Amino acid sequence: MYGSICFPSHSIRGTILGADTLVKLDNKRMIPAVNLDNAATTPPFKKVVEEIEWQLTCYGSIGRGKGQKSEHSNEVYVHGRERIKDFVGANSEIYTVFYTNNTTDGINKLASALIKSPKDIVLTTRMEHHANDLPWRERARTKYAEVDEKGRLMINDIERILRKYRGRIKYVSVTAASNVTGYVNDVHDIAKLAHQYGAQIIVDGAQIVAHREFCMLGKTPEENIDYFVFSAHKMYSPFGGGAVVGLAGELNKHIPEFYGGGMVEAVCDNSVRYLPVPDRYESGSPNYPSVIGMIKAMDILKRIGFEYIHKHEQVLLKRTLDGLKKIPGVILYGDNDELADRVGILVFNLCGIKNGEVAGFLADHHGIAVRHAAFCAHPYVRRLTRAEQAQNKADAMCYPPEGMVRVSFGLYNNMTEVDWFLTAINRMCRQRDC
Ligand code: ALA
Repeated sequence: MYGSICFPSHSIRGTILGADTLVKLDNKRMIPAVNLDNAATTPPFKKVVEEIEWQLTCYGSIGRGKGQKSEHSNEVYVHGRERIKDFVGANSEIYTVFYTNNTTDGINKLASALIKSPKDIVLTTRMEHHANDLPWRERARTKYAEVDEKGRLMINDIERILRKYRGRIKYVSVTAASNVTGYVNDVHDIAKLAHQYGAQIIVDGAQIVAHREFCMLGKTPEENIDYFVFSAHKMYSPFGGGAVVGLAGELNKHIPEFYGGGMVEAVCDNSVRYLPVPDRYESGSPNYPSVIGMIKAMDILKRIGFEYIHKHEQVLLKRTLDGLKKIPGVILYGDNDELADRVGILVFNLCGIKNGEVAGFLADHHGIAVRHAAFCAHPYVRRLTRAEQAQNKADAMCYPPEGMVRVSFGLYNNMTEVDWFLTAINRMCRQRDC
């Protein structure tokens, strides 16, 4: 029981396809898989799979056909944009939604459309996943706000850089939640700052969208988010797909470097007239099943409720951290006492044991899946592990950091799984005397 909510955790686990699939251990025993790698990707809701299967009985070409099936599919597809706006609190005519393959695709499309010159300046941060760093780095001048010694984003560094380049920073692109530490950034505060200095804000929503309620609209228009990007596979619909919710007026001024059919009104021998948003951002036949799955997943997440999800994942996080703190040889990263601004992600190492070995031991002997190494966030991981020397060398030689082991929770994980994970870590530490 959390507050007034009585959560039926068994029935929530029952909504997940394959939550208790058996996997074979090294000793040939079959045991239920434990997935503690939900920040990488999430298993599907059963209802998502059913909905896709059902809708595919009426599948036809999107936006290009006249048959009944085509018209039905098109209606579902177009209406899906309104459902997405509703899900991310963007109920305003100022926003449009275009579908993508995933967050990486969405940010690259935005970057290719918004960046006009290699001299454009984008402010991003040292906390970012590579998907919210490299698309800017490769096209524009990038400035990076630093993280503090616990790995939290330094908002005052964002302000310092905005002040320094007064009026010349075009975009601030920041993650809503870190895929390494799970820290949640106050993106509305950052939006206010960005707008004060004449920049627009882009938010990487990959790690927030299935864990916290997100609202594009702030308390005041200055706090509104201009662009929000996310993936469906992080929200229990792993069939590709994702979306960008963004300012329609602004997106209409640009065009992504991704051309083809479906985005044009007319093509003449020597000129082209492109359709307005969202079509100009969606060339080629879309991944319709991914759209169906994503919309259904949003419905289910809303029905379960973010209050439940948030509190449940916090309880799992706290129990895991409390357990790990008692095991000699565990090195934890980030602030593991103040958890309120974290989604259910934690990173650690075992003294003297390579992170890959820990991940292998968990999988091979306990059926537990985690992610290890540097999580597509090398600059951040170097900072967290305080590998200053490595960082200097990395600039000269650019090699990947050593990394860590990551545990990341989904709404269906439970205490038994946490305790099994802690048993496994205890065993490894005892065996290796770490
Ligand atoms: N971005 C995903 C992760 O953090 C793949 O694992």
